[in-house]
Amino acid sequence: MKNTNSRIPKQLFYLLIAGLVMILANACNEKKAPAATKNEFDEKTEKLLQQMTLDEKISLIHASSSFTSGGVKRLGIPELVMSDGPHGVRHEHGRGWSALKDADDKSTYLPVGICLSSTWNKKLGYEFGKVLGSEANERGKNIILGPGVNIIRSPLNGRNFEYLSEDPFLASAMAVGYIKGVQEQGVAACVKHFAANNQETDRHKIDVKVSKRALNEIYFPAFKAAVKDGGTWSLMGSYNKVNGQHATHHQYLNNEILKGEWGFDGVVISDWASVNDTREALLYGTDIEMGTELIKSFNNPDYDDFYLAKHAKKMIESGEVDMSFIDDKVRRILKLMYRTTALGEHSPGERNTAGHQQLALKVAQEGIVLLKNDGLLPFNKKEIKTLAVIGNNASRVFAESGGSSQVKPLYEITPLEGIKKLVGDEVEVIYAEGYETYYDESLFRGKSGEAASQSRSNSSDVEVARTANKKLSEEAIALAKKADAVVFVGGWIHGHEGMPWGEGTYDSEARDKVNIKLLFGQEELITEIVKANKNTAVVLMGGSNVEMNNWLPETRAYLHAWYAGMEGGTAIAQILFGEINPSGKLPMTFANSHLDYPSHLVGEFPGNKTVNYTEDIYVGYRYFDKNNNGVVFPFGYGLSYTTFNFSDLILTKKENKVIVQCTVTNAGSRTGAEVAQVYVHQKQCSVDRPVKELKGFEKVSLNPGESTMVTIELDDSAFKFYHPDKFEWVLEPGMFELSIGAASDNLPLKGTIEIAN
Ligand code: BGC
Repeated sequence: MKNTNSRIPKQLFYLLIAGLVMILANACNEKKAPAATKNEFDEKTEKLLQQMTLDEKISLIHASSSFTSGGVKRLGIPELVMSDGPHGVRHEHGRGWSALKDADDKSTYLPVGICLSSTWNKKLGYEFGKVLGSEANERGKNIILGPGVNIIRSPLNGRNFEYLSEDPFLASAMAVGYIKGVQEQGVAACVKHFAANNQETDRHKIDVKVSKRALNEIYFPAFKAAVKDGGTWSLMGSYNKVNGQHATHHQYLNNEILKGEWGFDGVVISDWASVNDTREALLYGTDIEMGTELIKSFNNPDYDDFYLAKHAKKMIESGEVDMSFIDDKVRRILKLMYRTTALGEHSPGERNTAGHQQLALKVAQEGIVLLKNDGLLPFNKKEIKTLAVIGNNASRVFAESGGSSQVKPLYEITPLEGIKKLVGDEVEVIYAEGYETYYDESLFRGKSGEAASQSRSNSSDVEVARTANKKLSEEAIALAKKADAVVFVGGWIHGHEGMPWGEGTYDSEARDKVNIKLLFGQEELITEIVKANKNTAVVLMGGSNVEMNNWLPETRAYLHAWYAGMEGGTAIAQILFGEINPSGKLPMTFANSHLDYPSHLVGEFPGNKTVNYTEDIYVGYRYFDKNNNGVVFPFGYGLSYTTFNFSDLILTKKENKVIVQCTVTNAGSRTGAEVAQVYVHQKQCSVDRPVKELKGFEKVSLNPGESTMVTIELDDSAFKFYHPDKFEWVLEPGMFELSIGAASDNLPLKGTIEIAN
């Protein structure tokens, strides 16, 4: 908390300056659209553009159905076909909004984004993208609406499960592979939601007040990497405002940073109904408007009434906005059509192949994180006669819930099924539901959009009854008593029987949680089960953590499984029984309460009309490192069934790079994988900098006794910071400390290096 008060007035001052600069920049930028960057498709694009009437151009820049934007038949320009989403190609909607009943649209349900990033395996990011791209092709989609790269600012955000990390470097690294994998199949990725879309409460209206330093150091980097390293062909603007202007049409975000500084030559697609103003959308970088009228009328939207339809036409015809703004959007769209082969032959793609399912399994195996193990795991089939599996989540499926990221899977293996299959006849598996899920309006921080503000209350003052179902819990405890070992499977859910998404879902789009206390009486149940049977392993699902202090100390083993996709149950079973050695690492800090997180302690969440990001760059471990309270499991943490040693650090300089080398040794008796994590700290600097920041990592797999040398290159971006007064990236020469190890709290190797300008 220290320093916070003295930072507030200074930040406000910079925000005012930033606002003033924005207004002046806007005034100078409204005459002509910026010139489009040169590209191999320029000539073809230009030829087409010259033949188009204003009406035809306009038809390209707004939706023509729920998931298409318009084409021009006369010129052979097709509609662009889009689909969610981040972890599988979503069900078919036809031209409307409801799911098509008899469509042949079952697809591979991959583990969610946060599970992917928990693998810390960049190659898997790429393979994940390849599966999505291939299935998108098979389903005739040109654009996949993912990856979701918004920073995890609070554990309460209902969409954390879709996102990648609290850390911009990890999120960037995982997103880049994903994008390349998708786009190599001739399908565009659409990285989302740009930017500072870190809560669902009031998402259409909330105004995020955030410094340019925090934007550039924390909230932008994954988007920047998506553009500059991943080469993404499209990007989705988010619902919220950033410092007073809607993000989807934003002078600073879209024109200055994205299309200016980063040279993005792709298409900015609005989030569904995130456009709020025709003039702003024309001038400030929105290229395609989606979803708007669906909000007014799901069944009978008037596509000509979109902001970027007849209203835009009027502004062009009256001369209020220059034609060059429309031309720039059309050029970008046509270019994307060439790039994605929407204009041309696209690859047939493949769907629901064994290979795709294997990849779903591999990501789950590497993404599930073992957080505690006092020797209970792995279970040995030969030593267990009866295994009690307890918990509603053990037999629950997740694919078709959570909001827009839902996938209709060919199948989904539950943990109970996975365990039964793995142990076969060797172990008797008995099951009890243990607790009952229910819907309680007070468990949410408001519905999305308009209704959200009405049910908002401050995070700390919501007290909710969490009653257990006595009969179910007694049954479960009795089962636990008679078993040799117990697997409890609980945690969050992201769908609820009989409720449409957004209503009655917990880890879900359009909702935030009110706190992270376990629901449905699970805390008491775990405590009782552990008392009844010491050999209990707890497995939790969820897009973030839960409060742990009341049950964790007595619990011998805890596995966090996120939502691990269609093969999640198989992977959980394999890890529990040691067929797979876990290697996942937390992509976010697990603190005991949401109130321990900087967004709640120093900043605001979810705010009221505005939300102040007063914690500034001190998000996640950057904050916890400074103010050590509440952390149960730190960023980058995760256990294995073997042990690893780090040794022999060598730091060398080569041109303007620093080469970090060290030896990682598997010192145990099982094959396993470890992640070498490199953190950087500037010892003295004219501005306050974090204690450490992740700037490199590499995952290596090693046999027992085997050693390998890991080499990680850091370029000068690893040492720079965004200057809060100069509004630019700065490298301040001096001494930098590098720390290397297996988790942010376990960095045995340390070295210092001098960096000159
Ligand atoms: C979500 C996007 C999604 C879009 C289309 C919006 O509500 O915020 O992430 O891609 O809907 O389904």
